[in-house]
Parts: sequence; C-alpha cells; structure tokens
Amino acid sequence: MTEDRYATFSERYASGDMPWDSGITPPEILELLAALPAGCALDLGCGTGTVIGDLLRHGWRADGVDFVPRAIDIARAKLSDFPPESHRLFRHDVTGLDELPELRRNYNLIIDIGCGHTLGGDAMTEYAFAIAGRLAPGGIFMLYASHPRPESSVGWAPRQVADVFGAQLNLLWEQRGDDQAIGAPVSWYKLRKRRKEQRGGA
Ligand SMILES: C[S@@+](CC[C@H](N)C(=O)[O-])C[C@H]1O[C@@H](n2cnc3c(N)ncnc32)[C@H](O)[C@@H]1O
Repeated sequence: MTEDRYATFSERYASGDMPWDSGITPPEILELLAALPAGCALDLGCGTGTVIGDLLRHGWRADGVDFVPRAIDIARAKLSDFPPESHRLFRHDVTGLDELPELRRNYNLIIDIGCGHTLGGDAMTEYAFAIAGRLAPGGIFMLYASHPRPESSVGWAPRQVADVFGAQLNLLWEQRGDDQAIGAPVSWYKLRKRRKEQRGGA
C-alpha cells in the first residue's frame, strides 16, 4: 500500500502535478505560530518545506519527513538560507518513524497536512502511537485530513480520528471544510498530548 502511494507521489512530483503545493502556509498553522512560544516542531509529509520555512521564520527548530526525494530536494533548496542547525530533512516513510533515531521524543508541535490520511487500519493506529510518543506532554498535533469518499481509498472519518488519536491526545477542536484542490470534504484537527495526571477532557 505504502509502495503504491510512494509511486503515485513520486510521479506527481516528477510531472509537477502538485495542487497542494501552493507555497502558502495554511492560516490555521500561522495562527498557532503567532500564539505559541517557539520550540521544536516535526512536519510529517513535509513536501517542499513551505511550512518548515514559516516555522523557522517564527524562531522554531524544525524537522521534516517525506518519502519522495524530489520533495526533499526542493525543500532543501527552499530552506538553504536558514542556518543548517535550525532544521533537518529526512527522506523516509512516515510509517517507519522508529527507524529514525534522530527524531526527538519531545516535540512541542507535530504537523501533518495531507499525509497520514492515506494510512488505514493498523497502520493508522501505529502512526497515532508514533506521533503521541514523539510529542512532549502538552505538545500539539495539528492534522489536516480528508474524509473518506466512495471513490477514494484515502481519508479518515472525524469519529475515527477522535477514537484512534484520542487514546493519548485530547481533541481540542475540529473544523470542517471543502478542499477545492483535492475536491473532497476535509477537517482540521487540533489535538494535545495529555499530561500524565490528566485522564480525559481538554
Ligand atoms: C498532499 S501532500 C502535502 C505536502 C505538504 N504537507 C503540504 O501541505 O504542502 C502529501 C505529502 O506527504 C508525502 N507522503 C505521503 N505519504 C507518505 C509516507 N507514507 N511517508 C512519507 N511521506 C509521505 C507525499 O510525498 C507528499 O509530499
């Protein structure tokens, strides 16, 4: 499954068919950066590094993971004016984050814009655990995922997100909309890793 996705995304980068790659960081992320103190962030499925650029401009350190070499190459070029120690880019599959010991265990912010929602079943559960395991207590996970559609194998239902990620993160809010670029209903989710003493609620 991941191999199919890899082939699809590689072809899309090779042919320049990347409607998601607007070069603009979504306002939901910019609003968060304006409100949070700078820390360490991880962008899963970072694409060409647009969001990482804005994280760095706001004083964050940032790591990015994407499995398409072309995406990582473009991101490296885009971020070349920033100090090298401010960011790290990994060409890797997000379903194998354990194979990246360089990743931190205490990110203040993890972002997934349109990446993880291609994973189903056990892979989704394992992905949720991998994310929770790399967030600092109180750390934020910002997720942008499409809803399931009959004609597509991609998508997470909001109920599914709440159930699977809710095992270790509290859902702070969900915001539904329509993504014109992919022609699908989507949701933004803001989740926060529970501190040890919390058993539920936000
Ligand atoms: C829809 S694009 C979004 C890119 C970026 N987040 C943005 O908003 O511009 C999804 C990205 O996730 C990457 N991706 C998808 N599945 C992945 C996986 N299993 N491992 C690593 N990267 C993946 C793709 O290569 C692509 O760059």
